[in-house]
Amino acid sequence: MNCRICNTTTKKFLDLGKQPIANNFLIEDQFDSEYFYKLEVFFCPECYTVQIGNVPDKEQIFNENYAFFTSTSNHMIQHFRELANIIKNNNHLSKDGFIVEIGSNDGTFLKNFRGYNHLGIEPSMSVASAAQKRGVRTLCVFFNEEAAEKIVERNGQADVIVTTNCFPHMIDRESVLKGIKILLKPKGIWINEEASLNEVINLGSYDQFYNEHVFFSSIASFRNTMFLYDLNLLDVDYLKVHGGSLRFFSSHADVGGRKHKIKDYIRTESLRNFERFLEFEYRVEETRKRFLQRLFLLRGNTVGYAATAKSTTVLNYCKIGTNLISKIYDTTPIKQGKFSPGMHVPVVSYDSFKEDKPKNVVLFAWNHAKEIYEKEKDKDINWILPI
Ligand code: TYD
Repeated sequence: MNCRICNTTTKKFLDLGKQPIANNFLIEDQFDSEYFYKLEVFFCPECYTVQIGNVPDKEQIFNENYAFFTSTSNHMIQHFRELANIIKNNNHLSKDGFIVEIGSNDGTFLKNFRGYNHLGIEPSMSVASAAQKRGVRTLCVFFNEEAAEKIVERNGQADVIVTTNCFPHMIDRESVLKGIKILLKPKGIWINEEASLNEVINLGSYDQFYNEHVFFSSIASFRNTMFLYDLNLLDVDYLKVHGGSLRFFSSHADVGGRKHKIKDYIRTESLRNFERFLEFEYRVEETRKRFLQRLFLLRGNTVGYAATAKSTTVLNYCKIGTNLISKIYDTTPIKQGKFSPGMHVPVVSYDSFKEDKPKNVVLFAWNHAKEIYEKEKDKDINWILPI
C-alpha cells in the first residue's frame, strides 16, 4: 500500500489477523452481522509514518454507540487539568481568547475552560452529548477543511487548538491538516498528544494497533508531516500517560524557528530504520505465545480488568474467548451487559468485582496500572499483563 502522507510504497511489518471494530461492544443479536477487517501495520521508508492498512469507514466507528469515555480514568482527569493550567499559565490563551479541542470526547479537558470562549468538535454523539450536559460547547461533526471554514465564519480563528489521542484517528489527514491551518490564528499554537511510537516499540505493546489508531507518529514522521503541510514543529514533551506519550507543539511554518533539540530527539528515538520494526514483529509473536501459555496453565480460571479497545486486539489476535477469560469487569455503563467485539467475552459491571474477588486477573488497562493497583491494593490479586 502507498503511504497516506507522501504516497511512497510502504513496507508491512505486522499482521494482527482478522479484527472487529475495537470499541464496538455488542449484544447477542448483533453477533451474525459483526464487521471484521484485516489489521496490518506498515512503515513508510520515506516520511517514516507508521500506519495501519484498510480500516472501516469512520462513520462505522464514531457514532452514537462509541463507547470510550475519557472521564473513566481519574488519572486522565488530572492529566487534562494540568494541561489546561499549562495553557492558561504560559500565555497561550488570554481571558478573551478562543480555544478549540478536536475530538473533545465527553468534555473532560474543555470543562477546565468553561469561563472561556471554547468549542469542542466531536463526531460521536454518545460522548458529545455527555460533554454538552457538562456545559461544554460541543459541535457533533467530523473535523475537516469544510468544518474549519464554518467554525471560522461563526466564531473566528482559534488561539489554541488541542488534539489529544485523536489526531492518529483521523484518516483524512490531508483535509484535517488543511482545516487546522484554516482554523489556527497566524500566531496560534496547536498542541497534539498521542501515544509515543518509540514506547509502543520498546514495550512491545502491539495492542495499541486497532482501527481507531490509523497513524503512529515518531518525532521524525511528525516533523516531516508538519513540513509537508506548511506547519512547524516547535517543541516536544515526553509524557507518562498511556504507556508513554508525546506532546507536540506546532505553529504555522512562518512562526519561530525549529529547535535544535528536535534533531537530537529524532536521532535518539531511532525510528527511521525498518529493521527495528521487523524485530518488533518477532517480539509480538513471542508475547502472544507467552500470554497464552500463562492462561492455559490457569485453566480458564481467569477474568479481565477493563474492556479496553486494546483488549479487542489482544483477544482477537490470540483467539481468546470465554474458555480462557470468563468475563471482563469495566466501569463504563455503555459497555456493561454487552459482549467484547469479535471474541464475545461478557463485559460486566465493575461493582461485582468486589464481591466476586477473582484471583487471576488480566490487566487490559495496563496503561492505568498505577491508578488501578492503588485502587485494588487491599485485594489478593495475581495480576497478569497481556503484553
Ligand atoms: P484505556 O486504556 O484508556 O482504554 P482504550 O484502550 O480503550 O483506549 O482505558 C479505558 C477503559 O478502561 C474504559 O473501558 C474503562 C476501563 N477502566 C476500568 O474499568 N477501571 C479503571 O480503573 C480504569 C482506569 C479504566
